[in-house]
Amino acid sequence: MAKFEPARSLEQRVVELDAACERERRISRALRDVGVALGSTLDLDHLLELILHNITQALEADRATLYLLDEANDELVSRVVQGDEVRSIHLKNGQGIAGHVARTGKPLHVREAYRDPRFSHQWDLISGYRTHSVLAVPMKNHLGKTIGVVQVLNKLRGDFSEADADILHALATQAAVSIDNSRLFLSVTQKNIQLLEIKEQLEARVHDLKLLFDLESAMARAATLEDLFAAVLGEAMSTCDARTGAVAMREQDETPGSLHVLDGTTRTLKQYPFKNQGLIGYAIRSGKTVVSTDVFNDKRRNPPLEMRICKESNTAIAVPLEGEQGEPLGALALYDKRGSLFTDADLDLVQLLAANASTAIRLQLAREARERGDRLSTIGSLLSAVIHDLKTPLSVISGYVQLMVAAEARQKRSDYSELVLRQFDHIASMQREVLEFARGEKSILVRRVYLQKFFGELREALEPDLDRKKVRLVVTLDERGTARFDEGKIRRLVHNLARNAAEAMSGGGTFTIHVARNNQVGQGPHDPRQQNNALVLTFSDTGPGIPKEIEHRLFQSFVTSGKVGGTGLGLAIVKKIVEEHEGTVTVSSTSSGVTFQVVLPQKPSR
Ligand SMILES: Nc1ncnc2c1ncn2[C@@H]1O[C@H](COP(=O)(O)OP(=O)(O)OP(=O)(O)O)[C@@H](O)[C@H]1O
Ligand SMILES: [Mg+2]
Repeated sequence: MAKFEPARSLEQRVVELDAACERERRISRALRDVGVALGSTLDLDHLLELILHNITQALEADRATLYLLDEANDELVSRVVQGDEVRSIHLKNGQGIAGHVARTGKPLHVREAYRDPRFSHQWDLISGYRTHSVLAVPMKNHLGKTIGVVQVLNKLRGDFSEADADILHALATQAAVSIDNSRLFLSVTQKNIQLLEIKEQLEARVHDLKLLFDLESAMARAATLEDLFAAVLGEAMSTCDARTGAVAMREQDETPGSLHVLDGTTRTLKQYPFKNQGLIGYAIRSGKTVVSTDVFNDKRRNPPLEMRICKESNTAIAVPLEGEQGEPLGALALYDKRGSLFTDADLDLVQLLAANASTAIRLQLAREARERGDRLSTIGSLLSAVIHDLKTPLSVISGYVQLMVAAEARQKRSDYSELVLRQFDHIASMQREVLEFARGEKSILVRRVYLQKFFGELREALEPDLDRKKVRLVVTLDERGTARFDEGKIRRLVHNLARNAAEAMSGGGTFTIHVARNNQVGQGPHDPRQQNNALVLTFSDTGPGIPKEIEHRLFQSFVTSGKVGGTGLGLAIVKKIVEEHEGTVTVSSTSSGVTFQVVLPQKPSR
């Protein structure tokens, strides 16, 4: 038989069930609210604020505090947000109620805080707050590790219940996961930022290096100081987007200064006299970088000079170029950046370029000085040879003059005078060639050479080395008279070809030099190979032939194959020498040897 419960106890049961239902509802509502809120941000500060706000509301508490465990310092750190103010509290792990919870990993409900020895009332003292009851639970992440503590203070009505403890526990677990995520996100973001910064720094370095590489290769191609200035200015202007650029070489003692201006539009380099004036002169005189954001109102400017450089100029930077001992050598300047002002990055760049350009300019100046010296000493040593060469036309002249004196017929005398004048032409052209060489207008000095003597001396010079390498040297001369070429350079050419041949015939062989004249008549004057009277030098060896892989670019610089320490310049030099003589060089190669043919055109003999 069914047992009837009294009506009162049933009513009480309904109340209890209602309360249980309400509790579950609150838990699920709080979880849902906090969940939605937590999902809305990854910013840690904002997240902590949201958690505290939701917890305070869900538990109808007066306050909530969230401590995060700082493992490195073994303390709990809390940020308390009151109004707009954010304060942080540091608590030693194990200290106070929160510290106790963090250490034990267990929740704690204290009804009368001031009666509990674990409670530390310092914070109350500072804040003027009065803590009555405290409910604190650990925050554990998905690995079950305590990462902090949440505590609520002073329930607004009554005291915290078991239901509250359950809610707080559920919220704390959810908060722990969110905080972990946020921290992870933060560390990933920070790493990302660091990576981006490193990437940017690397890109800047690569950019600088590429620029320097471009500059170095442009400068390496420059044969003269002017080419060098154009190369430096070209790089600097295009990198900094400047309309005009200038390099000034300073005026000092005996040396006049010079200003070289590159126009960005026409790409032409113009040269002007320079007396260390204007902004660019100021950079030289002060040895300091000059920046001007308003050139026309700048006291340091020199109107005629600056007008010459850039008519619409408004901004400029000028950086000194330094000599070997740091003394001013000149300056590099950029004018008129397109559309804006020069930036600090531009300045850094121009300084970098100026440092590199200084070195290149110093080297070029030294090279030019050395070449001048070389040329002078060559002229010195050639002087006796030139005087010797003059003997022939002079003795011819004196012979004709004697004949003229003796000749009675007017026509005869006029014929002799014609011959004398031709000798004077010859002397004048010799003089012209020597002077052109002395002035550096020509890189070769073409003179009349006695072929038998020349090749006799060459044989003597080559033989010892070839002998040692078991290479037989054969020199055959079909032509024994004279020919016109630069003795020193052709000697160098033969040495290069002989060395290559000997290197190719490592087991020994024969190297043959054949000298002949091209006697074909009536060929086109523009192709030296076909030119009548040209000197034809043939060099053959009995080696294995040119390696196939380099055959098509044999005469290019730095092309080398099968040699230890080969620089690949020998044949490039050969080609240059032949070109300076306006001649040609051809090669034919088989597996049993190589033949180089050099043709040097000869002006009709006088
Ligand atoms: N007579 C030859 N027989 C076979 N190969 C040759 C001969 N002459 C030149 N070569 C090939 O051509 C390459 C280029 O010669 P080149 O003289 O320009 O440079 P290199 O001899 O390598 O170096 P270096 O600058 O010291 O002369 C050589 O490395 C060699 O492989
Ligand atoms: Mg060589």
